[in-house]
Amino acid sequence: MKHIFLYGPPGTGKSTVGKQLARNLKLSFIDLDRVIETNAGMSIPHIMEQQGESTFRDLESSALKNLVNEQESIIALGGGALLRDENRIFAEAHGKIILLMAEVNTLLQRLNTDSNKRPLLAGDVNTKLSSLLAKRAEHYNSFPLRIHVDGKSAEQNAHQVQVTLGRHHLSAMGEYDSVVGQVSSLINFSMQNPIIVADENVAKFHLEKISAVLQSSGFESKSVVVPAGEQHKNLETISTLWKAFLENGLDRKSTVIALGGGVLSDMTGFAASTYMRGINWIAVPTTLLSMVDASLGGKTGFDLPEGKNLIGAFYPPKLVLADPQLLNTLPEAELISGMAEVVKHGVISDPELFALCGRGLDWVKNNLEEVVKRAMSVKIKVIEEDPYEKGIRAALNLGHTVGHAVELVSKFNLRHGEAIAIGMVAEAKYSARVGLAGVGLVDAIVESLEALGLPIQIPEEMPREEIIRAMRVDKKKNAKAIRFALPVEIGRVELVDVTDLEKVIDNWEIL
Ligand SMILES: NC(=O)c1ccc[n+]([C@@H]2O[C@H](COP(=O)([O-])OP(=O)(O)OC[C@H]3O[C@@H](n4cnc5c(N)ncnc54)[C@H](O)[C@@H]3O)[C@@H](O)[C@H]2O)c1
Repeated sequence: MKHIFLYGPPGTGKSTVGKQLARNLKLSFIDLDRVIETNAGMSIPHIMEQQGESTFRDLESSALKNLVNEQESIIALGGGALLRDENRIFAEAHGKIILLMAEVNTLLQRLNTDSNKRPLLAGDVNTKLSSLLAKRAEHYNSFPLRIHVDGKSAEQNAHQVQVTLGRHHLSAMGEYDSVVGQVSSLINFSMQNPIIVADENVAKFHLEKISAVLQSSGFESKSVVVPAGEQHKNLETISTLWKAFLENGLDRKSTVIALGGGVLSDMTGFAASTYMRGINWIAVPTTLLSMVDASLGGKTGFDLPEGKNLIGAFYPPKLVLADPQLLNTLPEAELISGMAEVVKHGVISDPELFALCGRGLDWVKNNLEEVVKRAMSVKIKVIEEDPYEKGIRAALNLGHTVGHAVELVSKFNLRHGEAIAIGMVAEAKYSARVGLAGVGLVDAIVESLEALGLPIQIPEEMPREEIIRAMRVDKKKNAKAIRFALPVEIGRVELVDVTDLEKVIDNWEIL
C-alpha cells in the first residue's frame, strides 16, 4: 500500500499539516513519534534519557516497518527518521516521501515554545538547531519532492502537498479521488466486471496495456472501441456503448473505464450515467485537455447538430487516474490544444501556472507532470467550491462562449483548445474595451498562447452572423443576455452579462 510520508526538520509542522492532509484526502493519520511512545510506554525524551538515541532509533525503525500492513495513511515522521538507509529504503518502497522545509527563523519561532519535548534540541535551541540542520543538510537536500512551509497556514501547506503529489479527494459532487500516477495503480481500486471504452486511436497505443493491468487482477478482458473525433460525439456512438455494455453482460455493479480524451470521457460518462439508471465509471484521461479539464467535474454528455454538449448529465466518475506517460503518444497538435485550457486555468486563478505556460512548448513537453498536477488542482478547487455552476464555476467558461461557437462554425476543423484560445483572446479584448481588463492583460494572454503555438484570431473567412447565432444556441445562455467570464487580471475573472454580442465579436478586428 502506498502511504504518504511527511518528513523534514523539527518544527516544519509535519503533524499539523499531516492531520489537515488526512482530512482533505479522507485518509487516516499516523504520527510515528506517538506510535513509538505508545509502544514503549514512555515519552521520547524519557526513552532518550534512559536508553539513549541508538535504542530510540531502533524503536523508530521497527515502528516504521510495522506500518506495512496499515491501510493507506498519511504518516508524519520524526525529523531524523530516514537517516538510516534501511528506513529510507522502506519508506520509498511503501509510499511517497514529501519533505517539508522552512527557513531557520520559522523553525526557531515554532521550536522555542516546545523545545523540552525535543531532546535533541534541549538547552540552547538556536545553536543546536543550526548544527543539526548543517549536519543533515545533504540528507534533507536529497529528497526530490518538497514544499516550503514558511508564512503559510496548515491548510495552504496541505494543499501544496496535494499539488506536488497530484492527489485530491473530491466530495462536492459524489466522492472520488483524483490521482496523478501510473495506470498500473488501477489495480488498487476496487471494481467489478470492468469494461474498457477507448477510441480507435487510443486503443492502438494503450488498450493492451490497460487490459493487461486488469487481467493481472483476475478480470476477463472486455473492451469496446469507438470511432475517434468530435463528429462522433453523438447519440449513435452512445447507443453503440449501451449495446456493448449489454452484450458484455454489464450489470448495475459493473465498472466502465473511459480510456481517452474529452470526447470519449464525456460520452462514456454519459452512457454510464444512463445504463441501468447509472453504473460506476472511471476516467483514465489520455489527452492533456482531458486530464486538466474534461475528466474532472462530472459533466458528461454529447452533441446535437445544433450545438455542442446540448444533452448531458452531471455524473462524476468514481476515480480519475491521470498518467502523464500516456501523453507520449499524443500528437503535438493535440498537446498544444490542451495547453489552451492550462493557460485558461492560469488566467482564472493561478498566476504562477500562467507564468510557467509563458516558457513555451519545449518547457511544457519536458515538464508535463508538473503542468498536469498544477492545472488539475486549479480546476478541482473551482469545482469543489461550486460543483453545479451556480457561481464561480462559470469562471471556467473563460474563452468558451466565443470558443464553442467558433469550434462549431468551423465544423470542428478547429480543435477544442484552439477554439478556446481564439475565444479567450476575443473575450479578453472585450474585457479591455469595457474597462475591466487591466493594462497589458490582452498582450500577456496573446504572448503566452503564441509561445505555445496556439491561434489567437478567428479565421477571416468565418461568417460573423453564424458565430453569433451559435453563441445564442450554446446551452449556457438564456435568450436576452449571455454570461461571459471576463479576465480582469492574471488570476482573476469576473462574470458579466452581455447583451450586444456583436461588440464581443468586433474585438478580433482590432488586433
Ligand atoms: N466534461 C467537461 O467538463 C469538458 C471540459 C472540457 C472539454 N470537454 C470536451 O472535451 C472534448 C475535447 O477533448 P480532447 O481535446 O481530449 O479531444 P479528443 O477526445 O477528441 O482527443 C483528441 C484526439 O487525440 C486522440 N488521442 C487521445 N489520446 C491520445 C493518446 N494518448 N495518444 C494518441 N492519440 C490520442 C483522439 O483519438 C483524438 O483523435 C470536447 O468534446 C469538449 O466538449 C469536456
